[in-house]
Amino acid sequence: VITALTLALVLAPCVIAAWGVWSFVRFARLTSQGKRHHLIMLGYRVRWRWLCRAVGIAWIDQHRGRVFHPLSGPTRTRVRLRGKSEYGWLRYPKGRWRADAHGWSVQVRALPKSGGRRQLTDAAEHIANAWKCARVQVAQPRPGRLLIRAVRLDPLLEPYSVTDMPRGLPDLRKLALYLGRDEWGEHRWISLPGVTGITVGGLPGYGKTELIRLWLHQLAGLPVRLVFIDGKGGGDYEEFRDRAWLYAGDDVGQAADVLGAVESEMRSRFATVLAKTGSRNAWHSGPAPGFELVLTIIDECHTFYDLDAVKGSKDGSELAVRQCRARTAQLVKKGRSVLFVTLVITQKQTSDAVPTAIRDNCSVGLSFATRTRDASVAALGEHIRDYPSYDPSALQDPAYVGVCVASLRTGSDPFVRVRVPELTPQAAQLRQETKV
Ligand SMILES: Nc1ncnc2c1ncn2[C@@H]1O[C@H](COP(=O)(O)OP(=O)(O)OP(=O)(O)O)[C@@H](O)[C@H]1O
Ligand SMILES: [Mg+2]
Repeated sequence: VITALTLALVLAPCVIAAWGVWSFVRFARLTSQGKRHHLIMLGYRVRWRWLCRAVGIAWIDQHRGRVFHPLSGPTRTRVRLRGKSEYGWLRYPKGRWRADAHGWSVQVRALPKSGGRRQLTDAAEHIANAWKCARVQVAQPRPGRLLIRAVRLDPLLEPYSVTDMPRGLPDLRKLALYLGRDEWGEHRWISLPGVTGITVGGLPGYGKTELIRLWLHQLAGLPVRLVFIDGKGGGDYEEFRDRAWLYAGDDVGQAADVLGAVESEMRSRFATVLAKTGSRNAWHSGPAPGFELVLTIIDECHTFYDLDAVKGSKDGSELAVRQCRARTAQLVKKGRSVLFVTLVITQKQTSDAVPTAIRDNCSVGLSFATRTRDASVAALGEHIRDYPSYDPSALQDPAYVGVCVASLRTGSDPFVRVRVPELTPQAAQLRQETKV
């Protein structure tokens, strides 16, 4: 017993000293902004238990709380929480606190009853008020673990240019479109094998067309056939016109013809895919000259899908709208194995603008700022209601131009918020010249 006691007495100060040194090293390695956040964080860390009780994420564990009393033997303790007194032990989400340049985060273990994801999300607004930060975000990096992130300086507000994008030649069999940098500082891509359609929504002027132009720059020089159907009829894609295989403006009849040509190309590829690529799924070998990726871009697509606007018209536009709807639906339903990807872009993704037969078959949805929660649901699906911290209706501030919410998995969360790099003509030129 004496040896164990001596050992404990010697080891305890060593462990405390090592912990102190490690904490100091971690603090010293932070940026000056991070050090500031660390000091602010310490105050809130001391008050964490109080905050948990106040916002309702503490709970009483009735299977604990037995203590041995020398006179009366084993007894149960009573605790009070929010005016109720019960037998048990008061439990709090215990966390690992880390400061960074944008604020701090607390990694906690998900607890049954009141310490789950839903309860923390509901409490996020109150925690943000208590911590005096712009936003508190709740994320789930892995099962059983939750991350409460206090954002004092939003990383998505930092400017981001294409010159800072990752470089390198793409692997054609795993071709991916670069989307941008997420709020955790990670580069995010949309992997194209397995995707037949991508919807892009959001209020006017928040960066939909700029994102498509970024992708067109990325795909320069690769075996890709481009199809443009520009519902605005402006010059948004004029500079890419000489690279286009097919091009249509805002005329519905012309758009129906172009979509008809794309659909018949898809059907003819079904007959030849095995012979030409050696596999039924052309993504096994990837796009190649003679069997290119066919990227159909339908911008301001409500121009071509709005049946109510053309009902009863005598000039054949009703038929053309029906054809546009049916042909696009065929492309997003069947195009995967023969390298067809369709981008459907519109301001408000309600079912009159994008028919559900098209929208629900697009496996990736992106949304820039929206006006209402209902518009966010139309763009990203019902699921966004369960994840209010990702709702794009919170992106209406003009500082969030170029920021979108994407239905891409991040840990256990189905969404991510991403800043798309800004593509200025000078930056595009510079990147083209230095392409590796
Ligand atoms: N990623 C970005 N970073 C910074 N600024 C951007 C970004 N994307 C777009 N912008 C700015 O927003 C402006 C409008 O963008 P864009 O034309 O893509 O909007 P839009 O969503 O297509 O609008 P509309 O629905 O009217 O066509 C651009 O001219 C540019 O100044
Ligand atoms: Mg546009």
